[in-house]
Amino acid sequence: MDDMKITLSGLIADALAAAFPDAPAQPAAEIAGYLEVPPEKEMGDYAFPCFRLSKTLRKGPLQIAQALAQGISAPDVCEARALGGYLNFFFRRDAFARRTVEKVLSAQGRFGAADIGNGRTVCIDYSSINIAKRFHIGHLSTTMIGHSLKRIFDFLGYATVGINHLGDWGTQFGKLISAYRRWGNREEIERGGVEALSRLYVKFHEEAGAQEKATGAHTLEDEGRAYFKAIEDGDPEALRLFNWFKELTLRDCARVYDLLGVTFDSYAGESFYNDKMGRVIDELRDKGLLTVSEGASIVDLSDADMPPCLILKKDGATLYATRDIAAALYRADTYRFDKCLYVVAYQQDLHFRQWFKVVEKMGYPWAADLVHVAFGMISYEGQTLSTRKGYVVYLEDLLRRAQEKALAIIEEKSPNLADKETVARQVGIGAVIYADLQNNRIKDIDFWWDRALNFDGETGPYVQYTHARCCSVLRKAAEQAAPPAEPAYEGLSDDWAQDLLRIISRFPEAVADAADKYEPSIVTRAVTDVAKAYNKFYYENRIIDAEPGVREARIRLTDAARDVLRTGLYLIGMEAPERM
Ligand code: ARG
Repeated sequence: MDDMKITLSGLIADALAAAFPDAPAQPAAEIAGYLEVPPEKEMGDYAFPCFRLSKTLRKGPLQIAQALAQGISAPDVCEARALGGYLNFFFRRDAFARRTVEKVLSAQGRFGAADIGNGRTVCIDYSSINIAKRFHIGHLSTTMIGHSLKRIFDFLGYATVGINHLGDWGTQFGKLISAYRRWGNREEIERGGVEALSRLYVKFHEEAGAQEKATGAHTLEDEGRAYFKAIEDGDPEALRLFNWFKELTLRDCARVYDLLGVTFDSYAGESFYNDKMGRVIDELRDKGLLTVSEGASIVDLSDADMPPCLILKKDGATLYATRDIAAALYRADTYRFDKCLYVVAYQQDLHFRQWFKVVEKMGYPWAADLVHVAFGMISYEGQTLSTRKGYVVYLEDLLRRAQEKALAIIEEKSPNLADKETVARQVGIGAVIYADLQNNRIKDIDFWWDRALNFDGETGPYVQYTHARCCSVLRKAAEQAAPPAEPAYEGLSDDWAQDLLRIISRFPEAVADAADKYEPSIVTRAVTDVAKAYNKFYYENRIIDAEPGVREARIRLTDAARDVLRTGLYLIGMEAPERM
Protein backbone atom coordinates (compact mmCIF):
# COMPACT_ATOMS: atom_id res chain seq x y z
CA MET A 1 0.00 0.00 0.00
CA ASP A 2 1.27 3.51 -0.64
CA ASP A 3 2.51 5.18 2.47
CA MET A 4 0.38 8.31 2.12
CA LYS A 5 -2.66 6.05 2.49
CA ILE A 6 -1.18 4.64 5.66
CA THR A 7 -0.55 8.11 7.06
CA LEU A 8 -3.98 9.43 6.10
CA SER A 9 -5.82 6.43 7.48
CA GLY A 10 -3.97 6.91 10.77
CA LEU A 11 -5.10 10.56 10.88
CA ILE A 12 -8.68 9.57 10.12
CA ALA A 13 -8.71 6.83 12.75
CA ASP A 14 -7.46 9.25 15.42
CA ALA A 15 -9.96 11.94 14.44
CA LEU A 16 -12.78 9.41 14.50
CA ALA A 17 -11.85 8.24 17.96
CA ALA A 18 -11.79 11.85 19.18
CA ALA A 19 -15.04 12.93 17.50
CA PHE A 20 -17.05 9.78 18.22
CA PRO A 21 -15.58 8.36 21.42
CA ASP A 22 -18.53 6.04 22.04
CA ALA A 23 -18.45 4.37 18.63
CA PRO A 24 -16.49 1.14 18.08
CA ALA A 25 -12.93 1.87 16.96
CA GLN A 26 -12.29 1.72 13.21
CA PRO A 27 -9.11 -0.14 12.27
CA ALA A 28 -6.82 2.07 10.17
CA ALA A 29 -6.27 -0.75 7.67
CA GLU A 30 -9.98 -0.83 6.89
CA ILE A 31 -10.09 2.93 6.50
CA ALA A 32 -7.13 2.81 4.14
CA GLY A 33 -9.08 0.41 1.97
CA TYR A 34 -11.86 2.99 1.59
CA LEU A 35 -9.61 5.83 0.44
CA GLU A 36 -10.23 6.78 -3.17
CA VAL A 37 -8.50 8.86 -5.79
CA PRO A 38 -10.99 11.66 -6.63
CA PRO A 39 -12.15 11.91 -10.23
CA GLU A 40 -10.91 15.52 -10.58
CA LYS A 41 -7.54 16.85 -9.49
CA GLU A 42 -9.26 19.94 -8.05
CA MET A 43 -10.82 17.62 -5.49
CA GLY A 44 -7.49 16.80 -3.94
CA ASP A 45 -5.19 13.79 -3.82
CA TYR A 46 -7.36 11.38 -1.87
CA ALA A 47 -10.94 11.30 -0.72
CA PHE A 48 -12.53 9.37 2.11
CA PRO A 49 -16.19 8.47 1.44
CA CYS A 50 -17.86 9.04 4.80
CA PHE A 51 -21.04 7.14 3.96
CA ARG A 52 -18.97 4.02 4.63
CA LEU A 53 -19.24 4.82 8.33
CA SER A 54 -22.82 6.11 8.42
CA LYS A 55 -24.22 2.85 9.65
CA THR A 56 -21.74 2.23 12.45
CA LEU A 57 -21.75 5.84 13.61
CA ARG A 58 -25.48 6.42 13.02
CA LYS A 59 -24.65 9.77 11.46
CA GLY A 60 -25.05 11.25 8.01
CA PRO A 61 -21.95 11.37 5.78
CA LEU A 62 -22.02 15.18 5.71
CA GLN A 63 -21.90 15.38 9.46
CA ILE A 64 -19.08 12.84 9.65
CA ALA A 65 -17.05 14.67 7.02
CA GLN A 66 -17.33 17.95 8.86
CA ALA A 67 -16.45 16.49 12.23
CA LEU A 68 -13.37 14.82 10.73
CA ALA A 69 -12.27 17.93 8.85
CA GLN A 70 -12.30 19.83 12.13
CA GLY A 71 -10.48 17.13 13.99
CA ILE A 72 -7.59 16.70 11.56
CA SER A 73 -4.69 19.06 11.87
CA ALA A 74 -1.51 17.96 10.17
CA PRO A 75 -0.27 21.03 8.32
CA ASP A 76 3.03 19.34 7.52
CA VAL A 77 1.29 16.58 5.64
CA CYS A 78 -1.94 17.74 4.16
CA GLU A 79 -5.07 19.78 4.49
CA ALA A 80 -8.39 18.01 5.01
CA ARG A 81 -11.62 19.58 3.70
CA ALA A 82 -15.18 18.34 3.91
CA LEU A 83 -16.73 18.31 0.45
CA GLY A 84 -20.24 16.89 0.47
CA GLY A 85 -20.14 13.50 2.12
CA TYR A 86 -16.44 13.18 1.41
CA LEU A 87 -13.40 14.16 3.34
CA ASN A 88 -10.89 15.36 0.74
CA PHE A 89 -7.18 15.50 1.35
CA PHE A 90 -4.85 18.00 -0.30
CA PHE A 91 -1.22 17.08 0.16
CA ARG A 92 1.21 19.72 1.20
CA ARG A 93 3.17 19.73 -2.01
CA ASP A 94 6.74 20.25 -0.79
CA ALA A 95 6.32 17.80 2.08
CA PHE A 96 4.79 15.20 -0.22
CA ALA A 97 7.66 15.68 -2.67
CA ARG A 98 10.32 15.25 0.01
CA ARG A 99 8.71 12.24 1.48
CA THR A 100 8.16 10.47 -1.84
CA VAL A 101 11.56 11.17 -3.34
CA GLU A 102 13.42 10.21 -0.18
CA LYS A 103 11.40 7.09 0.24
CA VAL A 104 12.28 5.92 -3.26
CA LEU A 105 15.95 6.82 -3.09
CA SER A 106 16.55 5.39 0.37
CA ALA A 107 15.05 2.07 -0.75
CA GLN A 108 18.03 1.71 -3.11
CA GLY A 109 16.33 -0.04 -5.98
CA ARG A 110 13.80 -1.83 -3.82
CA PHE A 111 11.01 0.75 -3.75
CA GLY A 112 7.81 -1.27 -4.00
CA ALA A 113 9.39 -4.39 -2.54
CA ALA A 114 7.71 -5.92 0.50
CA ASP A 115 7.94 -8.76 2.95
CA ILE A 116 4.27 -9.78 2.86
CA GLY A 117 5.32 -13.03 1.19
CA ASN A 118 7.93 -14.01 3.78
CA GLY A 119 7.58 -17.65 4.72
CA ARG A 120 5.22 -18.33 1.85
CA THR A 121 5.83 -20.24 -1.36
CA VAL A 122 4.33 -19.81 -4.80
CA CYS A 123 4.84 -22.43 -7.51
CA ILE A 124 4.52 -21.10 -11.04
CA ASP A 125 4.06 -23.51 -13.93
CA TYR A 126 4.87 -21.59 -17.12
CA SER A 127 6.20 -21.99 -20.63
CA SER A 128 5.80 -25.79 -20.27
CA ILE A 129 6.80 -26.57 -23.84
CA ASN A 130 6.23 -29.75 -25.76
CA ILE A 131 9.23 -31.84 -26.71
CA ALA A 132 10.12 -32.21 -30.39
CA LYS A 133 8.18 -29.08 -31.32
CA ARG A 134 9.68 -25.73 -32.09
CA PHE A 135 8.97 -22.78 -29.87
CA HIS A 136 6.47 -20.55 -31.69
CA ILE A 137 4.92 -17.25 -30.73
CA GLY A 138 1.92 -19.00 -29.20
CA HIS A 139 4.33 -19.79 -26.31
CA LEU A 140 5.31 -16.20 -25.70
CA SER A 141 2.53 -15.28 -23.28
CA THR A 142 2.85 -18.25 -20.94
CA THR A 143 6.61 -17.72 -20.85
CA MET A 144 6.55 -13.98 -20.19
CA ILE A 145 3.51 -13.81 -17.89
CA GLY A 146 4.97 -16.62 -15.78
CA HIS A 147 8.43 -15.08 -15.72
CA SER A 148 7.05 -11.70 -14.73
CA LEU A 149 4.85 -13.17 -11.99
CA LYS A 150 7.90 -14.96 -10.63
CA ARG A 151 9.79 -11.68 -10.39
CA ILE A 152 6.82 -9.88 -8.88
CA PHE A 153 6.27 -12.52 -6.19
CA ASP A 154 9.99 -12.63 -5.45
CA PHE A 155 9.96 -8.87 -5.03
CA LEU A 156 7.15 -9.17 -2.49
CA GLY A 157 9.16 -11.60 -0.39
CA TYR A 158 7.65 -14.92 -1.48
CA ALA A 159 9.76 -17.95 -2.20
CA THR A 160 9.00 -18.91 -5.79
CA VAL A 161 9.47 -22.11 -7.75
CA GLY A 162 9.47 -21.70 -11.53
CA ILE A 163 8.47 -24.94 -13.20
CA ASN A 164 8.70 -25.84 -16.88
CA HIS A 165 6.25 -28.75 -16.93
CA LEU A 166 7.63 -30.30 -20.11
CA GLY A 167 5.22 -32.03 -22.45
CA ASP A 168 7.45 -35.07 -22.77
CA TRP A 169 5.06 -37.97 -22.61
CA GLY A 170 2.78 -39.66 -25.11
CA THR A 171 2.68 -42.02 -28.08
CA GLN A 172 4.14 -39.34 -30.36
CA PHE A 173 7.57 -40.12 -28.91
CA GLY A 174 7.22 -43.76 -29.93
CA LYS A 175 6.30 -42.63 -33.42
CA LEU A 176 9.31 -40.38 -33.50
CA ILE A 177 11.61 -43.26 -32.63
CA SER A 178 10.04 -45.35 -35.36
CA ALA A 179 10.47 -42.53 -37.89
CA TYR A 180 14.04 -41.94 -36.83
CA ARG A 181 14.89 -45.63 -37.13
CA ARG A 182 13.41 -45.79 -40.60
CA TRP A 183 14.43 -42.53 -42.21
CA GLY A 184 16.63 -40.52 -39.90
CA ASN A 185 20.31 -40.35 -39.20
CA ARG A 186 22.25 -38.93 -36.34
CA GLU A 187 24.21 -36.19 -38.12
CA GLU A 188 21.16 -34.81 -39.86
CA ILE A 189 19.21 -34.55 -36.62
CA GLU A 190 22.15 -33.07 -34.69
CA ARG A 191 22.48 -30.48 -37.41
CA GLY A 192 18.79 -29.79 -37.97
CA GLY A 193 17.66 -29.92 -34.34
CA VAL A 194 13.99 -29.77 -33.53
CA GLU A 195 13.19 -28.65 -37.06
CA ALA A 196 14.57 -31.96 -38.38
CA LEU A 197 12.68 -33.88 -35.71
CA SER A 198 9.37 -32.31 -36.67
CA ARG A 199 10.06 -33.15 -40.32
CA LEU A 200 10.50 -36.79 -39.32
CA TYR A 201 7.26 -36.66 -37.38
CA VAL A 202 5.37 -35.22 -40.35
CA LYS A 203 6.84 -37.90 -42.61
CA PHE A 204 5.69 -40.58 -40.21
CA HIS A 205 2.12 -39.36 -40.47
CA GLU A 206 2.25 -39.10 -44.25
CA GLU A 207 3.64 -42.60 -44.61
CA ALA A 208 1.23 -44.09 -42.07
CA GLY A 209 -1.68 -42.44 -43.86
CA ALA A 210 -0.50 -43.64 -47.25
CA GLN A 211 0.00 -47.15 -45.93
CA GLU A 212 -3.48 -47.32 -44.49
CA LYS A 213 -4.98 -46.07 -47.74
CA ALA A 214 -3.04 -48.50 -49.93
CA THR A 215 -3.19 -51.68 -47.89
CA GLY A 216 -5.40 -50.99 -44.89
CA ALA A 217 -2.50 -52.05 -42.66
CA HIS A 218 -1.31 -50.17 -39.55
CA THR A 219 2.23 -51.46 -39.35
CA LEU A 220 3.68 -48.02 -38.75
CA GLU A 221 1.18 -46.98 -36.12
CA ASP A 222 1.66 -50.31 -34.34
CA GLU A 223 5.39 -49.87 -34.45
CA GLY A 224 5.10 -46.39 -32.96
CA ARG A 225 2.94 -47.69 -30.16
CA ALA A 226 5.39 -50.50 -29.50
CA TYR A 227 8.27 -48.06 -29.23
CA PHE A 228 6.32 -45.92 -26.81
CA LYS A 229 5.65 -49.04 -24.74
CA ALA A 230 9.40 -49.63 -24.79
CA ILE A 231 9.97 -46.11 -23.37
CA GLU A 232 7.36 -46.74 -20.70
CA ASP A 233 8.98 -50.05 -19.78
CA GLY A 234 12.37 -48.41 -19.49
CA ASP A 235 14.02 -50.10 -22.47
CA PRO A 236 17.52 -48.55 -22.49
CA GLU A 237 17.78 -47.99 -26.24
CA ALA A 238 14.33 -46.41 -26.51
CA LEU A 239 15.05 -44.25 -23.48
CA ARG A 240 18.36 -43.15 -24.92
CA LEU A 241 16.67 -41.89 -28.08
CA PHE A 242 13.83 -40.30 -26.14
CA ASN A 243 16.27 -38.43 -23.91
CA TRP A 244 18.27 -37.32 -26.90
CA PHE A 245 15.13 -35.82 -28.53
CA LYS A 246 14.47 -34.05 -25.29
CA GLU A 247 17.98 -32.70 -25.08
CA LEU A 248 17.78 -31.39 -28.64
CA THR A 249 14.54 -29.59 -27.93
CA LEU A 250 15.82 -28.06 -24.71
CA ARG A 251 19.00 -26.91 -26.46
CA ASP A 252 16.85 -25.20 -29.07
CA CYS A 253 14.64 -23.58 -26.48
CA ALA A 254 17.59 -22.51 -24.36
CA ARG A 255 18.55 -20.05 -27.10
CA VAL A 256 15.12 -18.44 -26.88
CA TYR A 257 15.13 -18.45 -23.07
CA ASP A 258 18.55 -16.80 -23.13
CA LEU A 259 17.32 -14.06 -25.43
CA LEU A 260 14.31 -13.48 -23.20
CA GLY A 261 16.29 -13.75 -19.96
CA VAL A 262 13.93 -16.43 -18.69
CA THR A 263 14.99 -19.15 -16.24
CA PHE A 264 13.39 -22.05 -14.38
CA ASP A 265 14.02 -23.85 -11.11
CA SER A 266 12.66 -27.16 -12.34
CA TYR A 267 12.18 -28.93 -15.64
CA ALA A 268 10.18 -31.79 -14.14
CA GLY A 269 7.76 -32.53 -16.96
CA GLU A 270 5.10 -35.11 -17.62
CA SER A 271 7.50 -38.06 -17.87
CA PHE A 272 8.86 -37.25 -14.42
CA TYR A 273 5.54 -38.37 -12.97
CA ASN A 274 5.54 -41.70 -14.79
CA ASP A 275 6.41 -43.62 -11.64
CA LYS A 276 4.09 -41.49 -9.50
CA MET A 277 0.83 -42.45 -11.18
CA GLY A 278 0.11 -45.51 -9.02
CA ARG A 279 -0.54 -43.33 -6.01
CA VAL A 280 -3.09 -41.22 -7.89
CA ILE A 281 -4.97 -44.23 -9.19
CA ASP A 282 -4.91 -46.04 -5.82
CA GLU A 283 -6.06 -42.98 -3.94
CA LEU A 284 -8.87 -42.25 -6.36
CA ARG A 285 -9.99 -45.86 -6.12
CA ASP A 286 -9.74 -45.98 -2.29
CA LYS A 287 -11.72 -42.78 -1.99
CA GLY A 288 -14.42 -44.26 -4.18
CA LEU A 289 -14.03 -41.63 -6.88
CA LEU A 290 -13.06 -43.84 -9.81
CA THR A 291 -15.75 -45.31 -12.04
CA VAL A 292 -15.39 -47.40 -15.16
CA SER A 293 -17.14 -46.17 -18.24
CA GLU A 294 -16.79 -47.95 -21.59
CA GLY A 295 -13.60 -49.54 -20.34
CA ALA A 296 -11.99 -46.24 -19.34
CA SER A 297 -11.58 -45.04 -15.73
CA ILE A 298 -13.10 -41.66 -15.01
CA VAL A 299 -14.08 -39.37 -12.16
CA ASP A 300 -17.69 -38.34 -12.50
CA LEU A 301 -18.15 -34.57 -12.24
CA SER A 302 -21.82 -34.26 -13.11
CA ASP A 303 -22.48 -32.73 -9.68
CA ALA A 304 -20.21 -29.86 -10.73
CA ASP A 305 -21.82 -29.63 -14.17
CA MET A 306 -18.73 -30.77 -15.99
CA PRO A 307 -17.96 -33.69 -18.24
CA PRO A 308 -16.11 -36.53 -16.47
CA CYS A 309 -12.37 -36.27 -15.92
CA LEU A 310 -10.62 -39.05 -17.85
CA ILE A 311 -8.00 -40.79 -15.68
CA LEU A 312 -7.10 -44.00 -17.51
CA LYS A 313 -7.71 -44.97 -21.12
CA LYS A 314 -9.12 -48.35 -22.07
CA ASP A 315 -5.59 -49.71 -22.50
CA GLY A 316 -4.63 -48.47 -19.03
CA ALA A 317 -2.58 -45.49 -20.30
CA THR A 318 -2.66 -42.35 -18.17
CA LEU A 319 -3.78 -38.97 -19.52
CA TYR A 320 -2.75 -35.34 -19.39
CA ALA A 321 -5.09 -34.76 -16.43
CA THR A 322 -3.75 -37.80 -14.54
CA ARG A 323 -0.24 -36.45 -14.85
CA ASP A 324 -1.36 -33.00 -13.73
CA ILE A 325 -2.95 -34.51 -10.62
CA ALA A 326 0.24 -36.46 -9.89
CA ALA A 327 2.29 -33.29 -10.39
CA ALA A 328 0.07 -31.29 -8.03
CA LEU A 329 0.40 -33.94 -5.29
CA TYR A 330 4.15 -33.93 -5.77
CA ARG A 331 4.37 -30.13 -5.63
CA ALA A 332 2.21 -29.99 -2.52
CA ASP A 333 4.52 -32.51 -0.78
CA THR A 334 7.78 -31.10 -2.07
CA TYR A 335 7.23 -27.35 -1.93
CA ARG A 336 4.30 -27.00 0.49
CA PHE A 337 3.05 -24.18 -1.71
CA ASP A 338 0.62 -21.49 -0.61
CA LYS A 339 -0.39 -21.03 -4.23
CA CYS A 340 0.31 -23.07 -7.32
CA LEU A 341 -0.21 -21.09 -10.52
CA TYR A 342 -0.72 -22.56 -13.98
CA VAL A 343 0.00 -20.00 -16.67
CA VAL A 344 -1.76 -21.72 -19.54
CA ALA A 345 -3.92 -20.56 -22.46
CA TYR A 346 -7.61 -19.97 -21.87
CA GLN A 347 -8.44 -22.91 -24.18
CA GLN A 348 -7.45 -25.30 -21.38
CA ASP A 349 -9.93 -23.78 -18.97
CA LEU A 350 -12.11 -26.90 -18.75
CA HIS A 351 -9.10 -29.18 -18.25
CA PHE A 352 -8.01 -27.19 -15.20
CA ARG A 353 -11.47 -26.81 -13.73
CA GLN A 354 -11.97 -30.55 -14.07
CA TRP A 355 -8.85 -31.79 -12.40
CA PHE A 356 -8.90 -29.03 -9.74
CA LYS A 357 -12.33 -30.43 -8.86
CA VAL A 358 -10.93 -33.95 -8.70
CA VAL A 359 -8.25 -32.84 -6.23
CA GLU A 360 -10.93 -31.12 -4.18
CA LYS A 361 -12.97 -34.35 -4.15
CA MET A 362 -9.87 -36.20 -2.97
CA GLY A 363 -10.16 -34.04 0.12
CA TYR A 364 -7.04 -31.89 -0.23
CA PRO A 365 -7.68 -28.46 1.21
CA TRP A 366 -4.95 -26.98 -0.97
CA ALA A 367 -7.16 -27.61 -4.01
CA ALA A 368 -8.37 -24.08 -3.30
CA ASP A 369 -4.84 -22.77 -3.85
CA LEU A 370 -4.54 -24.06 -7.41
CA VAL A 371 -5.02 -21.21 -9.87
CA HIS A 372 -5.36 -21.30 -13.62
CA VAL A 373 -3.81 -18.03 -14.80
CA ALA A 374 -5.41 -17.94 -18.23
CA PHE A 375 -4.54 -15.73 -21.18
CA GLY A 376 -5.87 -15.00 -24.67
CA MET A 377 -4.59 -15.83 -28.13
CA ILE A 378 -1.87 -14.14 -30.08
CA SER A 379 -2.06 -13.39 -33.78
CA TYR A 380 0.59 -11.89 -36.00
CA GLU A 381 -0.08 -8.79 -38.08
CA GLY A 382 -3.76 -9.63 -38.29
CA GLN A 383 -3.31 -13.32 -39.10
CA THR A 384 -4.37 -16.17 -36.86
CA LEU A 385 -1.61 -18.70 -36.39
CA SER A 386 -2.34 -22.31 -37.08
CA THR A 387 0.07 -25.21 -37.10
CA ARG A 388 -2.44 -27.22 -39.06
CA LYS A 389 -2.70 -24.67 -41.84
CA GLY A 390 1.06 -24.36 -41.80
CA TYR A 391 1.07 -20.74 -40.63
CA VAL A 392 3.51 -20.49 -37.74
CA VAL A 393 5.87 -17.77 -36.57
CA TYR A 394 8.80 -19.17 -34.62
CA LEU A 395 9.68 -17.21 -31.55
CA GLU A 396 13.38 -17.29 -32.30
CA ASP A 397 12.78 -15.76 -35.74
CA LEU A 398 10.55 -13.11 -34.25
CA LEU A 399 13.16 -12.18 -31.64
CA ARG A 400 15.96 -12.05 -34.23
CA ARG A 401 13.89 -9.79 -36.42
CA ALA A 402 13.05 -7.59 -33.47
CA GLN A 403 16.76 -7.09 -32.87
CA GLU A 404 17.45 -6.30 -36.53
CA LYS A 405 14.63 -3.81 -36.71
CA ALA A 406 15.68 -2.14 -33.47
CA LEU A 407 19.25 -1.94 -34.77
CA ALA A 408 18.06 -0.22 -37.95
CA ILE A 409 16.14 2.35 -35.90
CA ILE A 410 19.14 2.97 -33.62
CA GLU A 411 21.49 3.37 -36.62
CA GLU A 412 19.16 6.07 -37.83
CA LYS A 413 18.40 7.83 -34.56
CA SER A 414 21.66 7.51 -32.62
CA PRO A 415 24.44 6.55 -35.05
CA ASN A 416 27.13 7.37 -32.48
CA LEU A 417 25.82 5.15 -29.71
CA ALA A 418 28.36 2.76 -28.22
CA ASP A 419 27.62 -0.97 -28.33
CA LYS A 420 24.61 -0.66 -30.59
CA GLU A 421 24.20 -4.44 -30.82
CA THR A 422 23.54 -4.82 -27.12
CA VAL A 423 21.11 -1.93 -27.02
CA ALA A 424 19.34 -3.29 -30.11
CA ARG A 425 18.90 -6.61 -28.35
CA GLN A 426 17.55 -4.94 -25.21
CA VAL A 427 15.19 -2.73 -27.17
CA GLY A 428 14.06 -5.26 -29.76
CA ILE A 429 13.35 -8.02 -27.26
CA GLY A 430 11.90 -5.47 -24.83
CA ALA A 431 9.46 -4.30 -27.50
CA VAL A 432 8.17 -7.84 -27.95
CA ILE A 433 7.84 -8.44 -24.20
CA TYR A 434 6.09 -5.13 -23.64
CA ALA A 435 3.60 -5.83 -26.44
CA ASP A 436 2.87 -9.16 -24.82
CA LEU A 437 2.35 -7.78 -21.30
CA GLN A 438 0.67 -4.51 -22.22
CA ASN A 439 -2.98 -5.48 -21.85
CA ASN A 440 -5.00 -7.63 -19.47
CA ARG A 441 -3.79 -11.15 -20.02
CA ILE A 442 -7.19 -12.50 -20.96
CA LYS A 443 -7.38 -10.20 -23.99
CA ASP A 444 -6.28 -11.52 -27.36
CA ILE A 445 -3.11 -9.94 -28.73
CA ASP A 446 -2.46 -8.91 -32.29
CA PHE A 447 1.25 -8.32 -32.73
CA TRP A 448 2.27 -5.58 -35.21
CA TRP A 449 5.84 -4.45 -35.74
CA ASP A 450 4.88 -0.79 -36.27
CA ARG A 451 3.02 -0.73 -33.01
CA ALA A 452 5.61 -2.61 -30.94
CA LEU A 453 8.62 -0.62 -32.13
CA ASN A 454 7.13 2.85 -32.24
CA PHE A 455 9.29 5.05 -30.00
CA ASP A 456 6.48 7.50 -29.36
CA GLY A 457 3.43 5.44 -28.50
CA GLU A 458 2.84 3.35 -25.42
CA THR A 459 5.58 0.87 -26.19
CA GLY A 460 8.58 -0.84 -24.67
CA PRO A 461 11.06 1.41 -26.50
CA TYR A 462 9.18 4.50 -25.28
CA VAL A 463 9.49 3.48 -21.65
CA GLN A 464 13.10 2.38 -22.10
CA TYR A 465 13.86 5.65 -23.85
CA THR A 466 12.44 7.62 -20.95
CA HIS A 467 14.62 5.63 -18.57
CA ALA A 468 17.66 6.42 -20.74
CA ARG A 469 16.61 10.08 -20.73
CA CYS A 470 16.62 10.10 -16.92
CA CYS A 471 20.06 8.51 -16.95
CA SER A 472 21.29 11.14 -19.37
CA VAL A 473 19.98 13.99 -17.17
CA LEU A 474 21.76 12.45 -14.19
CA ARG A 475 25.01 12.03 -16.14
CA LYS A 476 24.94 15.63 -17.26
CA ALA A 477 24.16 16.80 -13.73
CA ALA A 478 27.14 14.86 -12.42
CA GLU A 479 29.44 16.32 -15.05
CA GLN A 480 28.42 19.86 -14.18
CA ALA A 481 30.48 21.45 -11.45
CA ALA A 482 27.64 23.10 -9.55
CA PRO A 483 28.23 24.21 -5.97
CA PRO A 484 26.61 21.74 -3.58
CA ALA A 485 23.12 22.71 -2.40
CA GLU A 486 20.41 21.09 -0.31
CA PRO A 487 17.34 20.08 -2.35
CA ALA A 488 14.57 22.67 -2.09
CA TYR A 489 11.41 20.64 -2.40
CA GLU A 490 9.19 23.67 -3.00
CA GLY A 491 10.75 23.39 -6.43
CA LEU A 492 8.59 20.33 -7.00
CA SER A 493 5.28 22.12 -6.33
CA ASP A 494 4.26 22.52 -9.96
CA ASP A 495 1.47 20.31 -11.31
CA TRP A 496 3.78 18.25 -13.52
CA ALA A 497 6.14 17.33 -10.71
CA GLN A 498 3.19 16.59 -8.46
CA ASP A 499 1.57 14.34 -11.04
CA LEU A 500 4.79 12.42 -11.41
CA LEU A 501 5.19 12.15 -7.63
CA ARG A 502 1.66 10.88 -7.22
CA ILE A 503 2.17 8.20 -9.83
CA ILE A 504 5.50 7.18 -8.33
CA SER A 505 4.03 7.01 -4.84
CA ARG A 506 1.39 4.54 -6.06
CA PHE A 507 3.90 2.18 -7.62
CA PRO A 508 4.12 -0.19 -4.59
CA GLU A 509 0.35 -0.60 -4.71
CA ALA A 510 0.50 -1.45 -8.41
CA VAL A 511 3.05 -4.19 -7.72
CA ALA A 512 0.95 -5.67 -4.92
CA ASP A 513 -2.17 -5.45 -7.06
CA ALA A 514 -0.39 -7.20 -9.95
CA ALA A 515 0.43 -10.09 -7.60
CA ASP A 516 -3.12 -10.25 -6.21
CA LYS A 517 -4.63 -10.42 -9.66
CA TYR A 518 -1.80 -12.39 -11.31
CA GLU A 519 -1.71 -9.55 -13.79
CA PRO A 520 1.71 -8.22 -14.92
CA SER A 521 -0.04 -5.67 -17.15
CA ILE A 522 -0.75 -3.63 -14.01
CA VAL A 523 3.01 -3.09 -13.68
CA THR A 524 3.30 -2.38 -17.41
CA ARG A 525 0.67 0.32 -17.03
CA ALA A 526 2.37 1.74 -13.95
CA VAL A 527 5.76 2.14 -15.68
CA THR A 528 4.10 3.63 -18.73
CA ASP A 529 2.35 6.19 -16.53
CA VAL A 530 5.62 7.07 -14.84
CA ALA A 531 7.29 7.49 -18.24
CA LYS A 532 4.54 9.75 -19.55
CA ALA A 533 4.49 11.85 -16.41
CA TYR A 534 8.27 12.17 -16.40
CA ASN A 535 8.33 13.36 -19.99
CA LYS A 536 5.74 16.05 -19.24
CA PHE A 537 7.73 17.13 -16.20
CA TYR A 538 10.90 17.15 -18.30
CA TYR A 539 9.42 19.35 -21.03
CA GLU A 540 7.85 21.81 -18.62
CA ASN A 541 10.78 22.33 -16.28
CA ARG A 542 14.40 23.29 -16.44
CA ILE A 543 16.38 20.72 -14.49
CA ILE A 544 20.16 21.00 -14.48
CA ASP A 545 20.12 24.72 -15.20
CA ALA A 546 17.47 25.54 -12.62
CA GLU A 547 18.38 27.70 -9.62
CA PRO A 548 20.39 25.99 -6.83
CA GLY A 549 18.21 23.93 -4.52
CA VAL A 550 15.43 23.58 -7.05
CA ARG A 551 17.99 22.00 -9.37
CA GLU A 552 18.86 19.41 -6.71
CA ALA A 553 15.21 18.64 -6.02
CA ARG A 554 14.49 18.12 -9.71
CA ILE A 555 17.57 15.96 -10.14
CA ARG A 556 16.50 13.83 -7.24
CA LEU A 557 13.02 13.47 -8.69
CA THR A 558 14.65 12.41 -11.96
CA ASP A 559 16.65 9.84 -10.05
CA ALA A 560 13.49 8.54 -8.36
CA ALA A 561 11.71 8.25 -11.72
CA ARG A 562 14.71 6.40 -13.17
CA ASP A 563 14.67 4.01 -10.24
CA VAL A 564 10.97 3.18 -10.53
CA LEU A 565 11.20 2.78 -14.31
CA ARG A 566 14.08 0.38 -13.95
CA THR A 567 12.33 -1.68 -11.27
CA GLY A 568 9.07 -1.79 -13.19
CA LEU A 569 10.80 -2.86 -16.40
CA TYR A 570 12.68 -5.52 -14.48
CA LEU A 571 9.44 -6.85 -13.02
CA ILE A 572 7.93 -7.36 -16.46
CA GLY A 573 11.13 -8.99 -17.69
CA MET A 574 12.63 -6.08 -19.63
CA GLU A 575 16.08 -4.59 -19.54
CA ALA A 576 16.69 -0.89 -19.03
CA PRO A 577 19.58 0.42 -21.15
CA GLU A 578 21.21 3.58 -19.80
CA ARG A 579 21.86 5.03 -23.24
CA MET A 580 19.75 4.73 -26.34
N1 ARG B 1 2.51 -28.61 -22.56
C1 ARG B 1 1.17 -28.12 -22.45
C2 ARG B 1 0.74 -27.48 -23.77
O1 ARG B 1 1.57 -27.01 -24.52
C3 ARG B 1 1.02 -27.07 -21.38
C4 ARG B 1 1.25 -27.59 -20.00
C5 ARG B 1 0.76 -26.63 -18.97
N2 ARG B 1 1.00 -27.07 -17.64
C6 ARG B 1 0.32 -28.04 -17.03
N3 ARG B 1 0.68 -28.37 -15.82
N4 ARG B 1 -0.69 -28.65 -17.60
O2 ARG B 1 -0.46 -27.46 -24.05
